[in-house]
Amino acid sequence: MTRIFPRMALAILLALPLALSAEPRTLVFSHVVSPDTPKGKMAEMFKKIVERKMGDRFRIEIHPNGTLMDDNEAVSAIADGRIQFAAPSVSKFDAYTQKLKVFDLPFLFPNMDAVEQFQQSATGQSLLTSMTQEGIVGLGYLHNGLKQLSANKPFREPGDLAGLRFRIMNSDVLKKQFETINAIPVPMAFSDVYQALADDRIQGQENTWSNIYSKRFYEYQPYIMESNHGVLDYMVITNATFWQSLTDDERRHFSYAMSNALGYGNAVAKAKSMNDREALKNARGVTLVKPTPQELSDWQAAMKPLWQEYASAVGEKTLQAAEQAAA
Ligand code: LMR
Repeated sequence: MTRIFPRMALAILLALPLALSAEPRTLVFSHVVSPDTPKGKMAEMFKKIVERKMGDRFRIEIHPNGTLMDDNEAVSAIADGRIQFAAPSVSKFDAYTQKLKVFDLPFLFPNMDAVEQFQQSATGQSLLTSMTQEGIVGLGYLHNGLKQLSANKPFREPGDLAGLRFRIMNSDVLKKQFETINAIPVPMAFSDVYQALADDRIQGQENTWSNIYSKRFYEYQPYIMESNHGVLDYMVITNATFWQSLTDDERRHFSYAMSNALGYGNAVAKAKSMNDREALKNARGVTLVKPTPQELSDWQAAMKPLWQEYASAVGEKTLQAAEQAAA
């Protein structure tokens, strides 16, 4: 015993300076939008709080603008534990769960308050853990806003878009949404959209005021309809094994940082949505169309049958909770 103890003490003493001087672990946060967007700003705020609280142990490395990977790859990189944080649109989880399709159903959520109410309900919260088996843990939701339709030619009615190629996020509800009006859906990574518009490989797209403005889609999409026909929201996700490997204290700090960053990001989303709409309205060459109540009801009549079609994939309970929040 007396001989073992000094050896152990020596080993501990030798290991100590190593432990004390260990470099903070780098955690990667990948996203596809510019830093000056609700998501970009949320990620910066998350980094700031995490590093303020636990900078000796963790560094957050943010890769914006899809420079590291697109969202489809980010979701699988999170599932495999290759990166630690991402915030893809809820439309990008088709390969992992059917339930999130609820967010893609056209005209389901009339405004962002309804989206928020649904997400805070027990059903909305349960979606955050619906992919744990696949290695994905949802840490919270972040808003961007309602989606608007845009095209390179004037349009007012659903029939006006027939034959146009529309970029979509890779989601089969969104694919059907455009097929119902005889447009041609083209799934494409966000970072490729601007060039595809410039090359006329697509003639239309749907996105939020903030994405249309920050990525300058309007340069090739002078006709924008204030359709508010869908929602673009994000789920911030992390890898399940990484999350479980943290100490309780670390998890608490990460959760605290995330909830503050999301509060901030949601406030930015609200402000940007209004400001960027105004900027687009005033942009030279852009025509912003507000549909009449009759026109809006024609768009709804064309697209709303999808709710029924996807009710069983989404699950009656999830759909009902969403409808209740939207009522
Ligand atoms: C898109 O692909 O249009 C969006 O998911 C981009 C984003 O993250 O806002």
